Amino acid sequence: LVLILDFGSQYTHLITRRIRALNVFSLCINGTSSLKSIANLKPSVIILSGGPHSVHALDAPCFPSGFMEYVETNKVHVLGICYGLQLIVQKMGGVVRVGEKQEYGRMEIVVEKACGLFGNRKVGDWQSVWMSHGDETVNLPEGFEVVARSKQGSVAALENREKRLYGLQYHPEVTHSPEGMETLRCFLFDICGVTAGWKMEDVLEEELKIIKDTVGPDDHVICALSGGVDSTVAATLVHKAIGDRLHCAFVDNGLLRFKERERVMETFEKDLHLPVTCIDATEQFLSKLKGVTEPEKKRKIIGNEFICIFDAYAHDLEKKLGKKPAYLVQGTLYPDVIESCPPPGSGRTHSHTIKSHHNVGGLPKDMKLKLIEPLKLLFKDEVRELGRIMGVPVSFLKRHPFPGPGLAVRVPGDVTEGNRLDILRKADEIFIQAIKDAGIYDSIWQAFAVFMPVLTVGVQGDQRTHSYAIALRAVTSQDGMTADWYYFDYKFLADLSTRICNEVQGVNRVLLDITSKPPATIEWE
Ligand code: XMP
Repeated sequence: LVLILDFGSQYTHLITRRIRALNVFSLCINGTSSLKSIANLKPSVIILSGGPHSVHALDAPCFPSGFMEYVETNKVHVLGICYGLQLIVQKMGGVVRVGEKQEYGRMEIVVEKACGLFGNRKVGDWQSVWMSHGDETVNLPEGFEVVARSKQGSVAALENREKRLYGLQYHPEVTHSPEGMETLRCFLFDICGVTAGWKMEDVLEEELKIIKDTVGPDDHVICALSGGVDSTVAATLVHKAIGDRLHCAFVDNGLLRFKERERVMETFEKDLHLPVTCIDATEQFLSKLKGVTEPEKKRKIIGNEFICIFDAYAHDLEKKLGKKPAYLVQGTLYPDVIESCPPPGSGRTHSHTIKSHHNVGGLPKDMKLKLIEPLKLLFKDEVRELGRIMGVPVSFLKRHPFPGPGLAVRVPGDVTEGNRLDILRKADEIFIQAIKDAGIYDSIWQAFAVFMPVLTVGVQGDQRTHSYAIALRAVTSQDGMTADWYYFDYKFLADLSTRICNEVQGVNRVLLDITSKPPATIEWE
């Protein structure tokens, strides 16, 4: 195991992902975790991440006391990145001080001494790297040597081979360090002697075994399927392990996209052979939403309604089975787990509530079900790969995210008035199909239509119209936290506008949302 100790850098997850991409299993935990929790994981390699602090700050996060002795005794290789390097220097008796020249952005470094970190690179070879630091190393601890310097002369890489301690002042994990991946590869395979062998097939086997060992032979398990990738892959995995003792519910809340219920149910039944009960709760949701216009109120109503329905499903199941289901499957991913316990001072604290996200994961606490979260160590792309090897259709795995509250957040104001939802569904379907036909679906993070509750004047077939407008929203993003609008081809937009006005009755105007996030959010409510 390669263990990453997180000191709050915005790139820490990237280190974990880069290492997994080299087929080596890596885990990331809080950098200030106890020595016991570090030792329990039995890491053969530890990477200390970067972070926003100065090692001199009063609240500077640090590994636990006894850490340096632990790695020495257990022959663990350690690589410090940026702040991690400075921690090693300081704790081993060297000196770090506020740099005279701060180094941010793309820099060149030169190899000063042949070192395994740089593979075959010779002394005097240059490479471009991404730096982001204010402090610098001015005195090396005993036994350490500089192996690379920046063009400005500051320490860029160092080593103490005897003690198996290494440090990089720059960020090898970001793509702006083009040779960074090679350096991580050299460090793991050549210096630490790690063997690559971690594959999604192994994860599948391991997870199946854990589920089989956890769930007793008479236990039943329930799962709320949203039709999204995470809950579907989690349910497919659990179904493989325990068969039809898994009971899934898919709720049609009347806020789904065009033919979504039919399409999703077909995938569940035909491709995945998952036992899914489809609950039609359209009336229940829409009657509760009637006349409600405040976005947060809409979200809360939908979230609560969902809980009531799932609760009723669990009770029905209990009556049918003669016993309570013991477990609940959730599609929690690794980033959710790390984000929920940020290292102190990392700035990654719980932020202001911009929107109350509703997820099928957020189920009532008083259900007293034990949780099965088989994806909680995986990133999204790894979940897709796991889904793929279990036979989940790739087209399904690549679907754009769809929010828990569904189309309700794409109809500003009262969703139930007139045929707003129908108009939106038709326009959205035309938009998405056009994107698929143009071969750009996979380049877009999320695309959808939004119903504009404004009536404007138009002219169609010599007739005056007084109809609604549709806004098109398409964004590129890495994680949904920030986003940019997608630059469509003008001809594509022109054709689309004509088609939507011609084919969707009640629409006479098409708008394009050209706002990034921030200042806007991706969804309109
Ligand atoms: P926003 O609108 O907050 O959206 O910029 C960011 C991403 O989150 C999705 N989203 C949700 N997903 N439950 C979800 O599961 C929700 O309540 C929810 N609200 C927004 C949104 O579609 C985008 O991908």
